[in-house]
Parts: sequence; C-alpha cells; structure tokens
Amino acid sequence: MAAADLLRPALLAAGRCPRMERTISKVPVTRNLVDRFVAGETESQAITATTGILDSGRYITIDYLGEDTTDLTQANNTVSHYLVLLSNLSALATSGGTPATFPPSPVRTIEVSLKLSALGQSLARDGHKVALENAHKICTAAEEAGAWVTVDAEDHTTTDSTLSIVRELREDFPTLGTVLQAYLKRTEADCKDMSGPGSRIRLCKGAYKEPASVAHQEKTAVDDSYLRCLRILMNGQGYPMVASHDPAMISAAMQYAEAKGRTADEFELQMLYGIRDSEQLRLVGEQKHVRTYLPYGEQWYGYFMRRLAERPANLAFFLRSLASR
Ligand code: FDA
Repeated sequence: MAAADLLRPALLAAGRCPRMERTISKVPVTRNLVDRFVAGETESQAITATTGILDSGRYITIDYLGEDTTDLTQANNTVSHYLVLLSNLSALATSGGTPATFPPSPVRTIEVSLKLSALGQSLARDGHKVALENAHKICTAAEEAGAWVTVDAEDHTTTDSTLSIVRELREDFPTLGTVLQAYLKRTEADCKDMSGPGSRIRLCKGAYKEPASVAHQEKTAVDDSYLRCLRILMNGQGYPMVASHDPAMISAAMQYAEAKGRTADEFELQMLYGIRDSEQLRLVGEQKHVRTYLPYGEQWYGYFMRRLAERPANLAFFLRSLASR
C-alpha cells in the first residue's frame, strides 16, 4: 500500500477531530495553503472571487463552509450567511455584472451548494425538520436571485436523511440538485432512481472516510463505479454534473455525452476552486460548460483536511512549509 493510502484515513479522521482543528488552525503557514482552496472568509471576498470566475467564462457554485453543527444558533447563522450571499449575488446580476441566468434558461450560471449538516441535520432534537426548514429558506432566496441550489453529500450515515430532504424540497423547488458519491455501493441504484426528467445530479467520487461495508476502498473500484454511474446519468433524462478533476472521468463524460447525442448545454463539468485551474480554462476554451465550486467562510478546517487527504503533493507541501519555519 502506498504511503498516501495509509495517510488518507488518518487525515480524514483528523479532519473531524476538534483538538486537531485547534492545533492546525493556529499554525500560521496553514493559512497560505488554505487560501489556495478557500476564497476568503467573508461574503465580500466570495463575491470578488466569483466575479473573476464568471468573467473567465466559468459558472459558479458557492459553499458557505461549515458542517456537523450541533448548535441551533450556529445553524441559523449559516442560513443568514446564505441569505446575505444570495442578496449580493442578485445585486451582481442586476448591476450590469454577469447575469444570473446566462446562458438563458434552463442552465443557471450561479448556484449555491449546501451541507445539510451545517443547517441543523445533526441536531439531537428535530435535526431533519430543522435542516429541511433552513434549506427551504435558502432555496426560496435562491429562486428570487435566479440561482440554482445543490445539496452536498456528506458521510454515509446522512445519505438517507439527505435524499429524503432533497425529495421533499424538490416538490417546491424542482430544479434542486443533489450530489451522489460514486464510492458508495448504493450509488448506482440511486443514480437509476434519480436520473429522470428534471433531475440534476452532481456525481463525485466521494471524500469521506467510509467503511468497506458501504464504500469501495480501492481507487480502481471507485473509478469503475464512477464510470458506471456516469453512464447511467448520461443515458438518463436529467442534467448530469460531472464533478471530477480526473482526466479519465472527464474524457469518459465527453464520450458518453456524445454517444447519447447530448449537446454542451445538456451536461456540465465541475471542479473545485484552486484545483486544475488552467484545465478548467482550457475546457471553457473548448466551449464546455465548466462550473467552479467555490468555498468561503471561517470554518474551513474539515474542507481543507479533505483536500490534503486527496493529494499527497498537497500534504507534502504543507509539511515542507511547517518544516521550513
Ligand atoms: P482523483 O482524486 O482521482 O484526482 C484526479 C486528479 O485530480 C489528481 O491526480 C490531481 O491531479 C487532481 N486532484 C484531485 N484532488 C486534488 C486536490 N485536493 N488538490 C490538487 N489536485 C487534486 N465529495 C463529497 O464527498 N461530497 C460532495 O458533496 C462533494 N462535492 C464536490 C463538488 C465538486 C464540484 C467537486 C469537483 C468535488 C466534490 N467532492 C465532494 C470531492 C470529490 O468527492 C473528490 O474527493 C475530489 O473531487 C477528488 O476526486 P477526483 O474525482 O478529482 O479524482
């Protein structure tokens, strides 16, 4: 087993450890690497970065960072941040900036991404109900701003609750999208269930530490599952959102789309802010729709640790920075 494979579970476990969070957040050099993946802490910084992404011809999905909230006030605070963000985004659309709905419907240039665990899903009391109500408020504001909403996928213990909340919300907001993780063994079946008309599924490989009972562990098995799921979505009647930096997945997406006769408007490619930026721009140059997932906010720790775990080079860079202090 490669050293990176051994380190990955440890980094993912550290990503959910409050004591490690306190230690790592205090290291001054952490900030430099965090800035590579996170577009600042405030709405104003997120909007500045968003304007740059939109001006480059990419679409945007913005995530206010936070997860695993066990405090109702904090969950409500997350909603407030999304409402401020969305009012800024709608101002951006009406102030002569890039319009929120360019190109014209059905594709929306601007989207926000939500983690239900940040909206109260993990509260001991009424977690499901609180997350549903909070997400409903954000979806209402997003509709007014002309923005899409997609619900992120978190660890497998939340999947049933998340998909059930998404189904309920889609009754009022039929454009609501959701993320499915190819490493979960259940996902092929979920793709079949959720690839009907009007669906918007963002397919990613999956970023959490999951047991072998529910998730493929080897990279080849995850990649094979991704390709099977991708084919189901491309052959379905929804709008597939191909969230991967992996050249093999991106090229398969193009092939499957072409085989199915999908035009560039009928699926999109998605990558994370700060990762393979030149490739994002190259794909835009090839007239592909590319959406950048842009996170901002003070609670960057869990997100940052998942990015370190994904790529040994990121960790090596981080450790070298620490050593050179
Ligand atoms: P893979 O990990 O095989 O990487 C392929 C190549 O991409 C690498 O060789 C490297 O070049 C580059 N790369 C990948 N990760 C990198 C990194 N961190 N730094 C630098 N280069 C890197 N997960 C989840 O569980 N729930 C979710 O809701 C989401 N949402 C989401 C949205 C979007 C738009 C994206 C792109 C990804 C997610 N993810 C996610 C994360 C996803 O599950 C996965 O962990 C990462 O995308 C890495 O997997 P790849 O498909 O990129 O392939």
